[in-house]
Amino acid sequence: ENFWKSNNGEVPPFNTEPAALEDLARTKLTQNGWYYASSNAGQSRTHTVNRQAFYRHRIIPRILVDTNQRDTATEIFGHKVAAPIGFAPVGINKIYHPLGELPVATIAGELNLPYCLSTAGSHPVEDVGAANDAGAQRSNVDACRFFQLYMPHDDELTRSILERAVKSGFTACILTVDTWQLGWRHDDINTSNYAFYHGTGADLGLSDPVFQKRLREKGIDAKTQPNEAGALWIDNVWHGRAHTWEKVKWVMELWRELSGGKPFCLKGIQAVGDAEKAVEMGVDGIVVSNHAGRQVDGAVASLDALEQIVDAVGDKTYIMFDSGVRSASDVFKALALGAKFVFVGRLWIWGLAIMGEPGVRHVLKSLLAEFDILLNVAGFRNVAEITRSALESGPKDY
Ligand code: FNR
Repeated sequence: ENFWKSNNGEVPPFNTEPAALEDLARTKLTQNGWYYASSNAGQSRTHTVNRQAFYRHRIIPRILVDTNQRDTATEIFGHKVAAPIGFAPVGINKIYHPLGELPVATIAGELNLPYCLSTAGSHPVEDVGAANDAGAQRSNVDACRFFQLYMPHDDELTRSILERAVKSGFTACILTVDTWQLGWRHDDINTSNYAFYHGTGADLGLSDPVFQKRLREKGIDAKTQPNEAGALWIDNVWHGRAHTWEKVKWVMELWRELSGGKPFCLKGIQAVGDAEKAVEMGVDGIVVSNHAGRQVDGAVASLDALEQIVDAVGDKTYIMFDSGVRSASDVFKALALGAKFVFVGRLWIWGLAIMGEPGVRHVLKSLLAEFDILLNVAGFRNVAEITRSALESGPKDY
């Protein structure tokens, strides 16, 4: 309600038109922060097609529908949330703002939208859970938060991180399967490592008791040797070593054991065959995503992958989507193509960089307002009414 009264009815603090938003964020970020957040794999071809794919679909507005009682709400894993829009997991938030993940989790709670915390988070998982609860309390709603896992190559560490997430009230595990190492990002060859090595990131991991044990075993003092500690964390979690389906099954069962059967999903699926395999394995959902075009340069547009995956397994699993969403009409198109839920990444990063908590609030409230208004002017009363027939699709040379 009253989504359009962004920022509590005050004059909007900045323009959330996506290009203007990104330009403004760039002026606020450090050079490392900008490079880390904005960089894409290779020549940015995947980033570009992620955006272009939305233009292949056009919304067909309906008129004279009684949209006066609209409802943007939906359900995800048993939580009733304000809209089918969530916060995608994004690492090392202290590189964008000194308070890192905390204001982001708070605003997600306040707006009753799902928050997903990255394993590469720059605060302990317990603190982020508490911030998310504090935000939800402002609006008298139950918080809805998920934990994104980058699976370490150290099973005891994996167990410890997941145990902490469960204890901190994270109610689904989203395992990212497209990032055994960071893609080749020209603008960011050194920056991500820089962030870890200089203490802006990784506190989620560095604070873990099992990881601290590993530090002691190696004789590394994280306070006086932050570079060594950061390097050990990166080595443990990534190191370029791929996991395979067997290991995914193991961690799915571990998560279900620790959480009492809470949902387990895979993020980063683009191939129909992989979506089918995930369904066969018994996951509770998948996120069709190409990591915002940051991993495989020249890859298929995430929205095009979505269409094919929905055709193959749309009735067999809960399909979520991200990569390239910049507006309410993008959200609408993904839903019309069969996604049940959409996540945004860079949009909220820019809000955080510009103004911290009020910045994230303003960007997300603007998106919610735009979505609500879109339903009204396009003639849709709720999310369930957004189906394939709402779109005209196909290339046209405009
Ligand atoms: C990401 N993404 C990401 N994904 C993940 O599973 N764990 C992570 O730690 C991160 N970190 C991260 C950092 C930055 C700077 C970006 C831009 C992205 C990917 C993210 O969850 C999501 O898939 C995309 O950001 C969605 O695309 P848009 O909305 O940014 O276009």
